[in-house]
Amino acid sequence: MTIANVEGYRDYLTERNGEADLLNRRLVNREAFFADIETHRIRSHRMIDLDAFERGMRTRRPARDIAPELAFLLATAKLNQAERFGVGLGETYGKNSAGDTLPERVHMELEEHYHTRLLAYVLDMFGLPFRVTPPAFVMRQFVKVAVFIPENRSFAFVGASEMAGCAMFNLLGQAGAALFADEPEVADRIRLLYGEILTDEIGHVGYCAARCSDIGRGIMRVLYAPIARLFARQTPEILRVVSRETLDERLSHPFDFADFSEHLRSTPFGAAPS
Ligand SMILES: [Fe+2]
Ligand SMILES: [Fe+2]
Repeated sequence: MTIANVEGYRDYLTERNGEADLLNRRLVNREAFFADIETHRIRSHRMIDLDAFERGMRTRRPARDIAPELAFLLATAKLNQAERFGVGLGETYGKNSAGDTLPERVHMELEEHYHTRLLAYVLDMFGLPFRVTPPAFVMRQFVKVAVFIPENRSFAFVGASEMAGCAMFNLLGQAGAALFADEPEVADRIRLLYGEILTDEIGHVGYCAARCSDIGRGIMRVLYAPIARLFARQTPEILRVVSRETLDERLSHPFDFADFSEHLRSTPFGAAPS
C-alpha cells in the first residue's frame, strides 16, 4: 500500500481515476473500466427469482428461510443505499461544488457514484435490476448527521463509517465469492467489483484519518465496531451470508489494512497525517 500525505492522495486519485467531471459525474479511467466490464459480460447459471428479489427490496425483514444466494444479492443491492443517499444529499446541497472545493473531495464524491454502479454490475450477472430505496429511518438520520455537521468535526464520524464500510464490503464480497465458487468467473468478478469499492474506501479511511487530530483518530477507532454492527443490523441480509462469528472475529481486533490486502486488485492508498 502507498502511504503518503494528503497531497500524495490527490496525485494517487488523479492517476487512478483520471480526469474528474463533476457535471457529468464521470471519472475518465473508471469509465474505461466499465467499458471493459460491458464488453466481457458474465452471466451466472443460477436462476434467481425476480419477484422474490423485488419483494426483498421492499422489505427490511428478510424471510427466515431466505436462500443465502438471494440474501447476498439483496445485501449487495442495499448495502450502498445509505452512502448513495448521503452523497445525493451532499450533492443537492452543493457540498462539493464551491469554487474552493479540494480536488480530492470531488474525486471521492464521484467514486461513491461508481460504487453504486459496481454493485449494480454484480446484480447484472444474475439478470437483476438496480433499484433505489431510501435507507431505513435510523440510517437516514445517521447519514444526515454525517453530511450536515461542520466539516472539521465530521471527519472522525465519517472516517469511522468508512472503516465500517470497508469491513462490510470486504466480508460480504468474500462471502459472495465463496457462495458462487462453483462458477469461478462469477466468483472472480464479485471479487473484482467488490475489491474496487474496497480500494476506494480504504483511501477514504486514510483521508479522513489524515484530516483528523489524534483525538479524532481515537474516535474513529472507537466508533468503528459499533457503526459496523449498526450497518449489519440495518441490512439484516448481511448476517444471512456473513456469519455472526466472522463479523465478531473481524471486529474483535482493531481496524487493520492488512485484513484487506490479499483481496484487492488495485493498490489502495493510505493517507497519513502530515
Ligand atoms: Fe462507497
Ligand atoms: Fe466512502
